[in-house]
This record gives sequence, structure tokens and C-alpha cells, in this order.
Amino acid sequence: MAALWCVVPAAGRGTRVGGDLPKQYLPLAGRPLILHTLERLAAHPLIAGLMVVLGGKDEHWPGIGQLADKPVLTTLGGAERCDSVLAGLRALPAEVADEAFVLVHDAARPCVRQADIARLIERAVPAGGGLLGAPLRDTLKRAGSDGRSHTTEPRDHRWRAFTPQMFRRGELSAALLAAAVAGVTVSDEAMAMEHAGFAPLLVEGAEDNIKVTTAADFALAEFLLPRTT
Ligand code: C5P
Repeated sequence: MAALWCVVPAAGRGTRVGGDLPKQYLPLAGRPLILHTLERLAAHPLIAGLMVVLGGKDEHWPGIGQLADKPVLTTLGGAERCDSVLAGLRALPAEVADEAFVLVHDAARPCVRQADIARLIERAVPAGGGLLGAPLRDTLKRAGSDGRSHTTEPRDHRWRAFTPQMFRRGELSAALLAAAVAGVTVSDEAMAMEHAGFAPLLVEGAEDNIKVTTAADFALAEFLLPRTT
């Protein structure tokens, strides 16, 4: 299996936790959150290079060109996550064929496990593409505007979607573009693929692959980092 490129959307403003500093640059165990994520991806033998998608006025990117002897390239993102991912796919080197599988992984998920990346690639390549996720374990409520629970949604067959997600470069680019043209804002790559008529394979991954969003998530991620290699 040839090694794959990974697009890392990191153009979110995400300033909820840290004031002016976008969350991907806030310190986690003493170093910027995004560095942990990039190092973990670059360390994986099946990853060939990283395409980091940055925000327009990003003054914090440390200018890394290589990690674990693998190229780290950057490009400019867009207003929504899906715009950033599409920009990242377009900016990949020409040697990455349209038929080649490409991973997409949130900069804000530093605790992804090496074994889960390997399992996603192993299972989703023969399936034509897929994503890491986990079955929903909590009871799901539909809230009214009064803040009260009005109904309970069925939990069966409901999954939470994580990253990495993995699709063919050409098919994913076309699917993201088609969703944008149709005015559908997709919240992940799998949603764009579903919109285009594909059924991405759900590959169960560890639930500690958290998306660091709140101050509490930073504390949790610090605890998880050394325990999720
Ligand atoms: O905001 P949220 O945590 O959902 O973002 C998920 C990932 O997508 C983050 O790594 C964020 O930096 C990235 N993103 C992006 N471009 C945007 C919005 C979010 O690259 N316009």
C-alpha cells in the first residue's frame, strides 16, 4: 500500500477558549495543539506528507516544512471547513493522482491513535472510502426553543463522526464542489460524499480521539496524549 497524503484543516478561528489566539495554537502540554496533531500524523508509516490549511491572517504558523522526514506544505483556507478542505485538496502535489486516497484530519484532534489510522486505511480502501467514528452511546434528546426535551430520538444506527476521513482525491473534490454549488454546507467530508450518492464505510475508532474545543477539552487532551499513542 502506497503512503497517503493527509489534508489538515486548521483555518478555523476557534477563539472561544483562548481569547485572540486560535485554539490550534493554544498550548497543550507546553506546545501548540496543532504540533501534537501534525507530529502524530507524520509519525505514521502510511502517511506520505501533510497539507496544512491555514487561515488568511495566520501569524502563528511556525513555518514547519518537514516532520519525520515528510513534507509539510501549507495553503490558504476558506470561510467554512469544507472550503478549507477543498482548498487543501486542490493544493496537493500533482503527483497525488485523482484516484489516490487522501486522508482529512482535524488539526483539533491531537489524540488520534496510530492503530486507528491503520485500521481506517486497511478497511476503508477496499470499501471505496470511509471515516472513523463510534456508535452513539448516550440517549439523544430533541430540544425545543423553551430549553425542554420534547422527544427522545432513537439511538439505534446513530454514529458520531470523527476524523481521519478518507476518500479518493478526485471523488472528494467533486463531491465538495457539488455540495457547494447546491448550497449545502457539509459539516464533514462524509456528508459531501453522501450528498454525491456514496455510502462511506463507518470504521469504529477510540472515543478518546476528541475534538479539542473547550477549556475542559484541553485538560482532558493533556491527560489523554501520553495514553493514546
Ligand atoms: O471549528 P471546528 O472545531 O469544527 O473545526 C474543525 C477543524 O476544521 C479545525 O481543525 C479547524 O481549524 C478547521 N476549520 C478550517 N476552516 C474553517 C473552519 C474550520 O480549516 N473555515
